[in-house]
Amino acid sequence: RGYSPLSLNISEGTVSQQERQELLGQQGLTIWLTGLSASGKSTIATALEQHLLHLRKSAFRLDGDNIRFGLNKDLGFSDKDREENIRRIGEVSKLFASSAALTITSFISPYKKDRDFARQLHEAQGLPFIEVYVDAPLSVVEQRDPKGLYKKARSGEIKEFTGVSAPYEAPANAELHIKTDEHDVEASVKIITEYLQGKGFLG
Ligand code: PPS
Repeated sequence: RGYSPLSLNISEGTVSQQERQELLGQQGLTIWLTGLSASGKSTIATALEQHLLHLRKSAFRLDGDNIRFGLNKDLGFSDKDREENIRRIGEVSKLFASSAALTITSFISPYKKDRDFARQLHEAQGLPFIEVYVDAPLSVVEQRDPKGLYKKARSGEIKEFTGVSAPYEAPANAELHIKTDEHDVEASVKIITEYLQGKGFLG
C-alpha cells in the first residue's frame, strides 16, 4: 500500500543487483584486509569505515568482534577452521556487497586459496574485490604485541599462532600493499580512499 514501484521491474518480484546500485547510487564492493595479527588491520578498517560514513557512503565492517564471537563462534584456529572462517566471511561479505555496501573485512586470512575463493565469489557476481595487504614485518608486530599473544605463542602457551607456529601466505598480487611501519593510519586510509576514487567507486 502506497508503494510506488518507480521504474523497477517488479513483475518478477525481485530487484536486480544493478537496479539496487542505481537506486542507491552506490557500487557495492568488498575491501579485504589481510595481514598478521597486530599488523594494523582493525585500526585501518575502523578508521576507513568512519571516513566512508562521513562521505555519506554506506560502509560496514566485518571483524573478529562481530563474526568470530557470533556467526563463527564454533570455529578455532586449526587450518580447517580458518578455512571455514574465511569461507563464511567470503559469503557474508559478498551478501553485504550485493546489498550495495562498501564492505570492509579485517581478518588475518592467512591462506591464498581461501582469499582467492572469496575473490571468486565476488567477481562471479560482478562485485569488485579489493585485496589490501596490511604489511608489517614479524619483528615489528612482535614488538607491538598489544595483547601479549606473540609472547604466549613463543612460550608455547598459544599453539598454531600465525607468523610464529602457523603460516601466513603473503599476497603477491593484492590491489594494494600498505606497509604499516611506514604509513600511519591516516595515510593508510588515504591510500585506500584514493584507490576507490580512482576507480570511480565513490561516485
Ligand atoms: S584467521 O586466521 O583469519 O581465521 O584469523 P582471524 O579470524 O582474523 O582471527 C585472528 C585473531 O584471533 C586471535 N587469535 C589468533 N590469531 C592467530 N593465530 C592464533 N592461533 C590465534 N588465537 C587467537 C588474535 O587476537 C587475532 O586478532 P588480531 O586482531 O588479528 O590481532
